[in-house]
Order: sequence, then C-alpha cells, then structure tokens
Amino acid sequence: MGNKTYAMIKPDAIRNGYMGKIIDHTINAGFKILGAKLIRLTKAQAEGFYAIHRERPFFSELTEFMSSGQTMVLALEKDNAVSDWRKTIGATNPEEAEDGTIRKKFATSLSENAVHGADSDENAKIEIGFFFNDSELISNQ
Ligand code: CMP
Repeated sequence: MGNKTYAMIKPDAIRNGYMGKIIDHTINAGFKILGAKLIRLTKAQAEGFYAIHRERPFFSELTEFMSSGQTMVLALEKDNAVSDWRKTIGATNPEEAEDGTIRKKFATSLSENAVHGADSDENAKIEIGFFFNDSELISNQ
C-alpha cells in the first residue's frame, strides 16, 4: 500500500472535455483511484477548502471559479503520492509546466489550471477528509 494524495479535476478541464483524458493520464502514471466523486462545489465549500488563501487577492476569483461547474474530487494512492502527483500535474502556472504534464496539456491559465494537488501528506489527509469518509476509500486491488 502506498501513500495517499488528494486531487481535483477542476471545472475548466471538465467544461473543455478533458475529464476522461486526465483520469487516463492519472492511471497511466501509476496512481490507484481510491475514491472519486463528480460534484459541484458550493461557494461556501470552495471558500472552506481554500481557506488558507482567504487573504490572497485572487481568493474571490478562485472560489467563484471552483463553484462555477462540475469538479471531480479524487483520493489517489501511490508510493510518494504527494510529490509524484505534483510532478505529474506540473507547475501551478501552466505556462511554466513541463511538457507532458497534465497542466501543460490541459490547463488554460494560472487561475483555470485544470487540476489540484495537495502540497503535503498532512494537507492530503485534511483535504481527503473534506470530501470523503474512510468507508468511501476503497482499493480494488
Ligand atoms: P491550486 O493548486 O488548486 O491551489 C490554489 C489555486 O489558486 C491554484 O491552484 C491556482 O489555480 C490559484 N491561483 C494561484 N495563484 C493565483 C493567481 N495569482 N491568480 C489567480 N489564481 C491563482
């Protein structure tokens, strides 16, 4: 059993038709999907999830965007899940993301950057707990 991380496929990527391609990329990169839900975040959920950024100038834009359409929330498992997922998705700003990364391939801009990834094991646990109960995290292998 590997480590866990928390990921989201954001509303821009789903609107642009990339949900399946991003799931495919995720599985091909060696991640097991332990939990997945297609939901629409309320503004309040987006504000709660991104509370750490509430003083930032982009907070309102971020939470409006994250509640603007469907999001797929994902709990992923892999050895070194947190750091490997961040490598798999690439830099926050897609213009700085390396070739072959999810953001380079599918993101639109810094604010609409296709996917999210937890930045530490501690935050991965908190973020998974935001959307999943333990009983919803099931490995099929
Ligand atoms: P994410 O990894 O989900 O974590 C916080 C998000 O805030 C980040 O991805 C970006 O989409 C967004 N973000 C970060 N910096 C900016 C910015 N300067 N302007 C707008 N959005 C930003």
